[in-house]
Amino acid sequence: MKTAIHSVHAREILDSRGNPTVEVDVTLKDGTTGRASVPSGASTGIHEAVELRDNTFRYRGTGVARAVNHVDVDIASVILGIDALNQTLVDKAMLELDGTPNKSKLGANAILGVSLAVARAGANACNMPLFRYLGGTTACRLPVPMFNILNGGVHANWQGTDIQEFMIAPIGAPNFKEALRWGAEIYHHLKKLLHDEGYSVNVGDEGGFVPALKRNADALEFIVKAIEGAGYRPSEDVVLAIDPASSGFYEDGLYHLHTENRKIDAAEMIAMYECWVANYPISLLEDGLAEDDWDGWKLLNKKLGHKIEIVGDDIFVTNVERIARGIEENIANAVLIKPNQIGTLTETIAAVRMTHNADWGAMVSHRSGETTDSFIADFTVALDTGHLKAGAPCRGERVEKYNQLLRIEELLGESAIFAGRRNVLPRAS
Ligand code: PGA
Ligand code: ZN
Repeated sequence: MKTAIHSVHAREILDSRGNPTVEVDVTLKDGTTGRASVPSGASTGIHEAVELRDNTFRYRGTGVARAVNHVDVDIASVILGIDALNQTLVDKAMLELDGTPNKSKLGANAILGVSLAVARAGANACNMPLFRYLGGTTACRLPVPMFNILNGGVHANWQGTDIQEFMIAPIGAPNFKEALRWGAEIYHHLKKLLHDEGYSVNVGDEGGFVPALKRNADALEFIVKAIEGAGYRPSEDVVLAIDPASSGFYEDGLYHLHTENRKIDAAEMIAMYECWVANYPISLLEDGLAEDDWDGWKLLNKKLGHKIEIVGDDIFVTNVERIARGIEENIANAVLIKPNQIGTLTETIAAVRMTHNADWGAMVSHRSGETTDSFIADFTVALDTGHLKAGAPCRGERVEKYNQLLRIEELLGESAIFAGRRNVLPRAS
């Protein structure tokens, strides 16, 4: 069999924060290769699959030599000889070898690196672009890019807003290429506005600016001004999205807004979001409440779920068991999809399918620690998720995802469709 896995080899590389991560090379019997690397979060959900770190003197404990060894020795022993085109079987073999509920034995970083590299090798063996190999011949819809242009929370060392991410989504653009231009122009306009007001224009982990604003809502004001200043219409052309990553400031049942020196409960958080949604063109709220605040989420979805997209990240962790509970209890209307939260391509696809079957939205996402691997760009088109968040239109590891989407749009030519207003953020229109 030409596409049988012939060898698998991992190495420790650095991510965008200068921390070690796993890169995997897979070679098939016919000599075809596939390479993938694994990102890493900072505001990591407690229910995520385990990212295995060495905890030795190397790299101040963050080394991934054990995960690398698990790929080269343990995983190799169970996947060599399997057909790379049989992704499910490859992933199943790794899941069985690990045998734990959260991949703590082998490490989700080891398993995912192999899973994605096998998919790449499969695509290469079939001489197909990755998005087509994964999504089939009808995969042709480019996502709305969700540009994270103002960073706070842990991604900004708590030097900026409590809210971790303020994003803009150019839903009115005619195609992806224009959406990217609009996003970059607004990003640069925001830089000028912040600079003119005396704020720092240094950037956070995902490339957004980190001004030391007094109130979280000031960020929304600045962004609306930047959209207008760049010549676009807030709401018609460009909408806003926020990810407070609120598990990061949830303690003892209260949400601690350090910037504003306030501690408030879930109901007050929801009231704050309602006020923001009434006053700013916000179409999406991710992780508005903490990862185990199920009652709060239920209320949040009741109050705002008919108006905007309510996305669960840390609460669902791309895990079908948690997503199924969320659907059952009607606590959101969309799921953030991060392959490394769950650890295999097969399980990530299952999460998207469950989400779509419930008529919920799915938003694919990078992590704050990234590599230049653009797998998620192809994945987004393949799974037709309609939107992708991959950080600011700035920094190599972020723009590589957006640049890959430009290439995909070019390759699709006339058959390319841009998700835009009608097909994404349905609850906003
Ligand atoms: P992380 O943040 O990659 O640092 O976990 C991203 C997010 O919260 O969406
Ligand atoms: Zn998030």
